[in-house]
Amino acid sequence: MNKKIVLPEDDIPSKWYNIVPDLPSPLPPPINPQTCEPINPKDLEVIFPKEIIKQEMSQDRWIDIPKEVLDIYKIWRPTPMFRAKRLEEFLKTPAKIYYKFEGVSPPGSHKPNTAVAQAYYNMKEGIKRLTTETGAGQWGSALAYACSLFGLKAVIYMVKVSYYQKPFRKTLMQLWGADIYPSPSDQTNFGKKILKDDPNNPGSLGIAISEAIEDAVTHEDTKYTIGSVLNHVLLHQTVIGLEAIKQLEMVDDYPDLVVGCVGGGSSFSGLFWPFYQQKVSKKAPKDVEFLAVEPTACPSLTKGIYMYDHGETARLTPLLKMHTLGHIFIPPPIHAGGLRYHGAAPTLCLLIEKGYVRAVAYDQVSVFEAASLFTKTEGLLPAPEPAHAIKAVIDEALRCKKTGEEKTILFLLCGHGYFDMNAYNEYLDGKLQPCEYPKDEVEKSVAYLKELYPWIDKLPY
Ligand SMILES: Cc1ncc(COP(=O)(O)O)c(C=O)c1O
Repeated sequence: MNKKIVLPEDDIPSKWYNIVPDLPSPLPPPINPQTCEPINPKDLEVIFPKEIIKQEMSQDRWIDIPKEVLDIYKIWRPTPMFRAKRLEEFLKTPAKIYYKFEGVSPPGSHKPNTAVAQAYYNMKEGIKRLTTETGAGQWGSALAYACSLFGLKAVIYMVKVSYYQKPFRKTLMQLWGADIYPSPSDQTNFGKKILKDDPNNPGSLGIAISEAIEDAVTHEDTKYTIGSVLNHVLLHQTVIGLEAIKQLEMVDDYPDLVVGCVGGGSSFSGLFWPFYQQKVSKKAPKDVEFLAVEPTACPSLTKGIYMYDHGETARLTPLLKMHTLGHIFIPPPIHAGGLRYHGAAPTLCLLIEKGYVRAVAYDQVSVFEAASLFTKTEGLLPAPEPAHAIKAVIDEALRCKKTGEEKTILFLLCGHGYFDMNAYNEYLDGKLQPCEYPKDEVEKSVAYLKELYPWIDKLPY
């Protein structure tokens, strides 16, 4: 039995897969709230380079990966897949558990798969400076790394609570040459306004995105980059699933269930899209199900309302159709910083609405228990975000133990947790609290949104 399934460098995919032409119904377009009409791609040119806008709107199923990007992918790709045999034995489950590990990249997660591509296209179009937000610091690290490869300046707005919870992520970004500001910051008008009203505001991804966009539109030679949610980001991540298919072929296996954590949905989509493509094109050797896992503290998929909303707090972005907790949502400061986003990718939300993907939520105490069992049995320390997927996999494996099903389960270990020691310390000291976001808060935010845009329910999408 293979413990580790490794592909040669030649097997790094040469194209990204785009799910848009294979969706069960047309993707609701982004809407300009001023006109109530789908946005004009030209409107996006102040924040994104042309090639990224083309990919964002693309109906092409396959998109070539530039040679320069492939050469950089070779630094850490193909990433390994492991069979979690010791975890299976501990659980005494007949299920087979595989995981694909993206923590081998220099920043320690899946995020550079898109950061490198975005930095490359910006560099090609003459951009010198890139702004972004970061929650857990994983995406910020990835962009800082990618910018250092192409001689660009990275300017990063880091959610204030994570900035103080994870000081070493900041150090790593600085070593790659980035400038980092705790958000809300005094660098932007929006940040200053929030600090004036509430000097102790802990920040949120929504606020940090607003600051990063304001910075990009008010500086020359500067564009904005995003680490999740949008189509072009998710498609860059499909190298994960495309490699995973080949790796499972090597051991003559195929998943019954594909599991991943969801913040904005990029890592999970990167894993499951290629399996979805095989399923809908009838090329999958057996039926495969998809399970998205999120925190009960930020339950966009399981408690959010499927409607148009902004991607950030200052309402600078177009409206996207997604499961949302409302763009004014300030998440509780749980440790899975990368999962504290009020919405999720429109492609993923559509697939949930249509019944192709299921979603579950777990509280952080049960998630850290699962992570600790994983570390005891498999050795690797997971980031708190993929620990959510691990919790769901353990529950499914225990269910298989009861029913005797020999299911094959594949999950994404999208990042390591070696920068998350404060969180693990709190867990060991018994200080972590379970946290459930109340449904009536969601209803309040949605009522506010409907007051703001009375026409929002009447859009024809
Ligand atoms: C390690 C890790 N996993 C998951 C996520 C969630 O994002 P996404 O759902 O886009 O993969 C993040 C986001 O920062 C992350 O850092």
